[in-house]
Amino acid sequence: MHRLAFELNGQPVQLNTEAAVLLVDLLRGPLRMTGTHQGCDTAQCGACTVLLDGQSVKACSMLALQAQGRRVTTVEGLPGLGGARSNVAGALHPVQEAFIACHGLQCGFCTPGMMMSATCLLQQVQQPSDAQIEAALEGNLCRCTGYVNIVAAVRQAAGAMAGGVR
Ligand code: FES
Ligand code: FES
Repeated sequence: MHRLAFELNGQPVQLNTEAAVLLVDLLRGPLRMTGTHQGCDTAQCGACTVLLDGQSVKACSMLALQAQGRRVTTVEGLPGLGGARSNVAGALHPVQEAFIACHGLQCGFCTPGMMMSATCLLQQVQQPSDAQIEAALEGNLCRCTGYVNIVAAVRQAAGAMAGGVR
């Protein structure tokens, strides 16, 4: 067993873990962050995407111990990244609101990962082109939507965030 300490959605966590445990299993298991989905476990589908120090990573492609001392954000912590409105009870992140408004999901399995990748993009590029949005979501697969509404949602979220909604 190894002692692991890191920040999860703004809160410090400490727990013991085996060396071979994947971050996605730690999040979904002992830490109960089941919004991080697990679709393939081979780093292809993107359903397990989380932010590690603000960068999107596939949580099935790294060991839990690699999060030592770092900042992990799952979809459960996304509202906390929403700027001034994040203190309002029940407030959603602009990316979440845009996915709802644009019908950017059907079954919802890919949605947490899509939103984390989109958030990573919008933290780096304020007004991305459709080509930049598509490139940022390249590692996230959706079997339902055909992607059109997902790209529209990210575009709308970018507009909302640039307009001071966040
Ligand atoms: S479960 Fe991680 S990429 Fe599919
Ligand atoms: S909404 Fe079903 S997989 Fe994307």
